[in-house]
Amino acid sequence: MSLNRYSRVLTQDESLPASQAMIIGSGVPYEDLNKPFVGIGSTGFDGNPCNMHLTTLAALQKKSVLDTKQMVGLLFNTIGVSDGITNGNDGMRYSLPSREIIADSIETISGAHFYDGIIFTAGCDKNMPGAIMAMARLNRPAIMVYGGTINGGHFKGEKLNIVSAFEAYGKKINGKISEEDFKEVIKNSCPGPGACGGMYTANTMATAIEVMGMSLPYSSSSPARSEEKKKECQEIGKYMYNLLEKDIKPSDIITPKSILNALRVITILGGSTNAALHMIAIARTMGIDLDLDQIQKVTDTTPLLADMKPSGKYLMEDLFAIGGTPAIMKFMLNEGMLDGSCLTVTGKTIAENLESLPDLPKDQDLLRPVSNPIKKEGHIQVLYGNIAKKGAVAKITGHEGEMFEGKAICFDSEVAANEGIRDGKVKPGHVVVIRYVGPKGGPGMPEMLKPTSAIIGAGLGDNVALITDGRFSGGSHGFVVGHITPEAMEGGEIALVEDGDVISINARTNTLDVKVSAEDLEKRRKKWKKPPYRVTSGYLWKYIQMVKDASTGCLTDR
Ligand code: FES
Repeated sequence: MSLNRYSRVLTQDESLPASQAMIIGSGVPYEDLNKPFVGIGSTGFDGNPCNMHLTTLAALQKKSVLDTKQMVGLLFNTIGVSDGITNGNDGMRYSLPSREIIADSIETISGAHFYDGIIFTAGCDKNMPGAIMAMARLNRPAIMVYGGTINGGHFKGEKLNIVSAFEAYGKKINGKISEEDFKEVIKNSCPGPGACGGMYTANTMATAIEVMGMSLPYSSSSPARSEEKKKECQEIGKYMYNLLEKDIKPSDIITPKSILNALRVITILGGSTNAALHMIAIARTMGIDLDLDQIQKVTDTTPLLADMKPSGKYLMEDLFAIGGTPAIMKFMLNEGMLDGSCLTVTGKTIAENLESLPDLPKDQDLLRPVSNPIKKEGHIQVLYGNIAKKGAVAKITGHEGEMFEGKAICFDSEVAANEGIRDGKVKPGHVVVIRYVGPKGGPGMPEMLKPTSAIIGAGLGDNVALITDGRFSGGSHGFVVGHITPEAMEGGEIALVEDGDVISINARTNTLDVKVSAEDLEKRRKKWKKPPYRVTSGYLWKYIQMVKDASTGCLTDR
């Protein structure tokens, strides 16, 4: 079987001479028309450290593809949204919806131009799930390359990262940092290319995807500026060719077993709650049934072992220094926490890939042994209750306790919440409710990193909880519950909570309730009026029409 399974439609049909003329006009030699076509895409763009270097990496990959002399390599681009830049402002409304644009545009160009294989380089939070969703839709040989993590910044002997900059604001408004130091933290938090450095959403998803088998070993942990990242791009051609030759497709790699492997690594590393959304979206796009209850089952049976930011000490570059993601996988394999029989984009199984790679060093303290976990169960907890009938996702790392009961203080937007925190309205014992920020209400289910950072920065992290129908950044920490479904905009019970109501959050019984009787909630419902959508035209309006709820991954195509 020739390897140009798709592109032959364009290149081998004599009734399409214009298509062939256009392809030749774009620089592909006539003699190469019968080679497989590989689309080499990225979310490269200026103005965001996570994405600024991706087109350079894609150019190295194109050279690697062409050097094999067996394939045609064709560069393309799609967009991205910086979560770090948009957090705390209206730009964040576009963040989650950008996942769909990325998936749609990779699908569109690869479908329209009949690419036989896809290499895609992704950098910022939504880039990775967007890329994998497209690969799952297309189901053609595909590899995802991660743009790599940023190096840590430094100031006054302290290691900085993007969350240091967010939290500096809380410190500033509370007089805990000088004006000059505030500026220096801003200047030094992001010292060059690469995605945010902790186990936030980008590093979480990149790691999950490597463990799932869709990236080469080390892709998720080799930093953006490392020689290893360069080498990965320079060698990608031979791996792509192998996938084409063996016709290994995403459906051979993304399976219930590999999804479980990915969920396990997310849990032991303390990854972002956004993974709950994205893993459901990836699995469902691949036709695999995954829901919040299955995620909870992984949490119940998997310990939290890694001391990584946001709630711990280490960054992704530190994980790389102790052997990277493969060393973590080897540890998991030895502990029986990973199914080594799953296939990967090397054409080999996980166990085969790991065979010759080094173990974790003995003297490391980033990953604890199973016998001495940070927490016996995972940190991502799925809660249900009278204000979360279809579920909510909490991040409970153990630092903040497992139960919280307090009085509600309600804000109908993130801006209102930020002002409330700034003006000192939020007091110890409060449960801050931020609503109308769900997939349709936000719109786009924005992340509440600014309010959580302001709470931490104000020193209220230990005695205030925050619940929302929005999301949290992977950088958020504290007692936080997000993804409350149904969302307020759809008439979810979170819309009926009033200031002063007692809210009880319990990560042992996995419940989230407002202590108001069903009759009283019903009376409040009768008075409730759905507010108008915040956006009435453009892409976000389309998103409001199409997006499904958070408990099913905020998909728009099914
Ligand atoms: Fe891109 Fe954080 S802003 S990973």
